[in-house]
Amino acid sequence: MRSATIAFCVAYLTIATFHNCFCNGKSNTICNETEKQALLKFKQHLKDHSNQLSSWAGEDCCQWAGVVCNNLIGHVHKICLRNLHPFRVDQTEAEYEAYLSHKLGGTINPSLLDLKYLRHLDLSCNDFEGIPIPSFIGSIGRLRYLNLSQAGFSGTIPHQLGNLTTMRYLGLGGTTTNFNVLQLHGDNLQWLSGLLSLQHLDMLRVDLSKALDWLQVINALPSLTELHMSSCELKYVSPSFNINFTSLAILDLSYNKFESSVGGFLV
Ligand SMILES: *[C@@H]1O[C@H](CO)[C@@H](O)[C@H](O)[C@H]1NC(C)=O
Ligand SMILES: *[C@@H]1O[C@H](CO)[C@@H](O)[C@H](O)[C@H]1NC(C)=O
Ligand SMILES: *[C@@H]1O[C@H](CO)[C@@H](O)[C@H](O)[C@H]1NC(C)=O
Ligand SMILES: *[C@@H]1O[C@H](CO)[C@@H](O)[C@H](O)[C@H]1NC(C)=O
Repeated sequence: MRSATIAFCVAYLTIATFHNCFCNGKSNTICNETEKQALLKFKQHLKDHSNQLSSWAGEDCCQWAGVVCNNLIGHVHKICLRNLHPFRVDQTEAEYEAYLSHKLGGTINPSLLDLKYLRHLDLSCNDFEGIPIPSFIGSIGRLRYLNLSQAGFSGTIPHQLGNLTTMRYLGLGGTTTNFNVLQLHGDNLQWLSGLLSLQHLDMLRVDLSKALDWLQVINALPSLTELHMSSCELKYVSPSFNINFTSLAILDLSYNKFESSVGGFLV
């Protein structure tokens, strides 16, 4: 069943503007007025040059592009605004043009806090032009999926994300147009240690050179199956450390700066 869903998703992605999480058009619920106002305010603060959010105007926000509601109650469950034309270092001119015309930017309004049932927020592959990840995201209490990968955020990852204790998929990594610079950084990863349901963590190209506790924290996450920490400037592994990545199925620690004497621990 899962593979059927994925196949459907792939087929669907090729025709949709946003990664819609197979949602809109099918529900016959009417959205909650408070939540609709919250979405409109969120939209007001986004830069949307090519007017991709033009459907965010009608009465029923459950029909808007990239918005998914709970079928029964009409609460907004998902916001799926991934740019399906991501930036890549080796892309053609035409692909780059497509990226430029589809990217969203601007700021992320705290009106999202009014979406009390929001479980899924995907803003990946857009371009927020170096603003920090807003710490209030840590108060969107029901989030299980947060993807801010490749979206042009910079600065310190807010520790408040550690309050999202039901989080399963967390994407913070990725290459942006400014690919020479590591834009996000983490001074320590202690905040991650409360995310006991976390299954998938992507920190590709996040500067973790100061996060000396990374291995200790990651090692103690009981549900982690997929970890991407490539190009994170990781250097230090305590030689006496008892590594037990028991649940991990996918581990990418490539392009780090491990000292050769301890690198063997990870192979
Ligand atoms: C809309 O949702 C909010 C919580 O997000 C709730 O307090 C309010 O009662 C709902 N309104 C309606 C009309 O259901
Ligand atoms: C959220 O996290 C911050 C920093 O980790 C903490 O100071 C704060 O008390 C937390 N808030 C809640 C509501 O748990
Ligand atoms: C986040 O989005 C990126 C790009 O859109 C995608 O490649 C990645 O798999 C997503 N991460 C998660 C945790 O779903
Ligand atoms: C892995 O090891 C750490 C400390 O060495 C321990 O706290 C944790 O419970 C272990 N996890 C599993 C899944 O065995």
